[in-house]
Amino acid sequence: MKLAVFGAGAVGTSVLELAGDYGHDVVAVADSASAAVDADGLDPEVVTRRKHDEGQVGDGEPADALAADYDVLVEATPTTLGDAEPGFSHVGTALERDRHVVLANKGPVAERYGDLRAAEQASAGSVLFEATVAGAIPTLSTIGDLGADRVTAVRGVLNGTANFILSRMAAEGLDYEHVLAEAQDLGVAEADPTFDVEGTDAALKCVILANVLYDREYTLADAEVSGIADLPGSALKLAAEDGRTVRLIGEVADGTVRVGPRLVPENGTLAVTGTRNIVQLETEHAGRLNISGRGAGGPETASAVLADVGRLSRR
Ligand code: HSE
Repeated sequence: MKLAVFGAGAVGTSVLELAGDYGHDVVAVADSASAAVDADGLDPEVVTRRKHDEGQVGDGEPADALAADYDVLVEATPTTLGDAEPGFSHVGTALERDRHVVLANKGPVAERYGDLRAAEQASAGSVLFEATVAGAIPTLSTIGDLGADRVTAVRGVLNGTANFILSRMAAEGLDYEHVLAEAQDLGVAEADPTFDVEGTDAALKCVILANVLYDREYTLADAEVSGIADLPGSALKLAAEDGRTVRLIGEVADGTVRVGPRLVPENGTLAVTGTRNIVQLETEHAGRLNISGRGAGGPETASAVLADVGRLSRR
């Protein structure tokens, strides 16, 4: 498949670097202000070096990448709330051109699911978005295989940054500010980690799960969200005295979407450590399925993007 990649951050760059291994060519890359286009396939090293050295991917305009001859547009620009722009317009343009779309950007799926599905219906192209929920973990494809109406609830740890902070606080008795600074130093947290620690990122993933499970439009406004920013270290100490710990748990059940810090058994399935995520699916006939793995990171999330590209190429 010929790919146009929008977004040259950790995920977009990893898609560019790994696409060849998966048998695909990247014919266009765009960041917010520039683009590189080559119908014969771009050299990932040249593009990433230019981005690193000069802050831009090429000499073209982002519109050149939109107009390129690609089979699949990969949308990996940063998630934005509300109108989900500019990501939504990139997706809309590709679908109007009857091209496929693969999203790593959560905004269009979480905030404009109805518009997204309407644009897909009017197009010969399809939209897939495995990478929007829990990075490398095959969550949406598993739900798709089981049948969304056979999955009665989903819960789990869906934010690696918050989980890193909580597990370090519990293991070392450190306070929140200290561990957040550590996470930023290690490059685990975003430079602006607000979405991570306030629960917004986990809530967006849960909203996407609700959209898929219930096939009606949820947005962030439908989610009940609290984060971990105000959690005192003493809460973790008290929990530990009782054999428990605290995790930021997202849950989609009975038509509701909730995210917040919850007490879980210290050695239980949900108490994953570090940046690891876990997704628990409650199924109608097969009980509980647990899927755990890396929920964030460039190559990890790119592997989910490229799995979607593979699905499209086999159709
Ligand atoms: N920043 C997120 C996390 C990954 O820490 O899990 C992208 O959703």
